Amino acid sequence: MFYSDELLDEIRLQNDIVSVVSEYLPLKQKGGSYFGLCPFHSESTPSFSVNADKQFYYCFGCGAGGDVFTFIMQMENCSFLEAIETLAKRGGVKLPEPKNAEFFLEKERLNNKLIEIHRQAGLFYYSALQDNKGEIARKYLEKRQISPKIQKKFGLGFSDNSRNSLYLYLKDKGFSNDEMVLSGLIMRDKNGNGFYDRFYNRIMFPIFDLNGKPIAFGGRIISSGEPKYLNSPETPIFSKSRNLFGLNLAKKERPSEIIIVEGYMDMISLYQAGFHNVAASLGTAFNKEHANSIKKVSSNVILLFDSDEAGERAVLRAIPVLISSGINVRICQVTNAKDPDEFIKTYGVKEFAKLIYNSLDHISFQINCIKKNYNLNNPDHKIKFTSEAANLLSSVENTIERDVFIKNVSSLTGVSEDAIKTEINKTISRQEKNFMTEAEKKRLKIRNDNISSAIKKSKGLIEAQRDILYICASYPDIFKEIKKFLSPFEFSEDIYKKMATIIYELNEKDEKILPTKLIQNFDTIEDQRLATEVFAVNIKYNNLEDMEKAINSEVVLIKQSYINSVSSSSSDINEINNLISEISKLKNLDIKIKK
Ligand code: GTP
Ligand code: MN
Repeated sequence: MFYSDELLDEIRLQNDIVSVVSEYLPLKQKGGSYFGLCPFHSESTPSFSVNADKQFYYCFGCGAGGDVFTFIMQMENCSFLEAIETLAKRGGVKLPEPKNAEFFLEKERLNNKLIEIHRQAGLFYYSALQDNKGEIARKYLEKRQISPKIQKKFGLGFSDNSRNSLYLYLKDKGFSNDEMVLSGLIMRDKNGNGFYDRFYNRIMFPIFDLNGKPIAFGGRIISSGEPKYLNSPETPIFSKSRNLFGLNLAKKERPSEIIIVEGYMDMISLYQAGFHNVAASLGTAFNKEHANSIKKVSSNVILLFDSDEAGERAVLRAIPVLISSGINVRICQVTNAKDPDEFIKTYGVKEFAKLIYNSLDHISFQINCIKKNYNLNNPDHKIKFTSEAANLLSSVENTIERDVFIKNVSSLTGVSEDAIKTEINKTISRQEKNFMTEAEKKRLKIRNDNISSAIKKSKGLIEAQRDILYICASYPDIFKEIKKFLSPFEFSEDIYKKMATIIYELNEKDEKILPTKLIQNFDTIEDQRLATEVFAVNIKYNNLEDMEKAINSEVVLIKQSYINSVSSSSSDINEINNLISEISKLKNLDIKIKK
């Protein structure tokens, strides 16, 4: 019951094969697959492919193939078990040990508590919005044209100007000071004794995770003041770069595409207008974690940021992040309004729908951005613009698409399509060359690392086997003890297996084991030399205690290596579980030689 299939699946899920392989060698995306130089054989053109959908790799050159576990086994020269451990650690999956199970439960208990605090706080803020003191907030929301129905749908609330009303409310509900502080909603004062609310005088926007659980708040100041928006801090249940406002609602729609906006108000405004496939990033720069969360909802994104320069810069930064996560990106630009909220309120739903319909592909958008930096009547600018555009177009894989863009750039500049094409091809082959050089460098390094670690590993193992065989042959009494723990088949080399078998047989017959007797069992000079070597070792121990220690650790090494080699060729979960229990027994192995 050690490692269930579910657990292995979970580890697989947390270790995307493309990102795992990328840590070892550079990969290049080509359609649905990624290609690189095979780390397992020598080659100069990439025939090593990684399939992201099916989560496997295959080398068309040497036939090596498998999943993320076998990749680690081959790469690290390790057993299945070790690969499980490596990947579990990498993916943040805790392997079940009794201690960890307890740890997990404790963590889950705490997270549930924090969510409960948010649920209670949400109710508190919500009812504050409805009572007398909440009038100023209700007026504000009315001014922003957010209907009471939508206020309720989003669970909007109000934090009044008291500095500790939420604290007192939560205390009354039985939450401890530590729990409240951990939730981020309550802060400890400098002396550490007093407590006060993080949010006051703000419209409160509860933030939910993808399962609809309340995990944080955003608060907008009602009158003027700084900061305009305040978010919950990072907590055990909330990360600003993983969660988007409204993503839980968008998810319910199973949208074919999702609109990403910058602000809370933009999100709510569009939702109210009937666009339910919207979410807002929470004021942090767009990153890979955002992309991963979004991908759970849809892999087609329309970026609809504010019309200012900051918005445009943010879009340009977000594009590569989304693309590299396998998300299709289009860009929609607000015109004649500062943000989507203002646009839809000024021009209405129909105009907004048109705006969305006219979203640009991200390449055209980027070309437009580049163009802004140049005056195309100036020959020098024209050259620079065309080179920059060609550089961008070299990333477009689809040749039809690329052709369309080339035509556009050509008509913008008057530079012939052929010239642009030539420039693009030059860029591509330059990139290809750089990629190959990098790949080759990296591969050589892996090779060398692997070889030296294999040498290190096997050197210790070979020596251990020689020592043990020597001791077995020379000290019959000690051999009787070792025999209880170690069998001939557990030796790693055929020659040592055979030597062990003979020693065991001779010992059964109570015969004295003479080197010559042993060696005459081998036919070739080479085997005889190896067998002789066993007796050439001249081990000296300071005392019996040292000897006992050495024997124990060498037997453990031999057994461990045997188990690893069996487990690495096994994918039978029962067999592996047996081997795991064998390994755990090794810890208690205790060969006694002292009288
Ligand atoms: P309104 O003025 O209410 O319409 O807000 P907006 O959405 O137009 O705000 P803006 O474009 O200024 O900011 C967009 C988003 O950035 C907000 O929704 C917040 O998530 C975030 N943001 C804005 N100002 C601040 C701030 O002062 N601090 C933090 N942490 N985030 C902010
Ligand atoms: Mn706004």
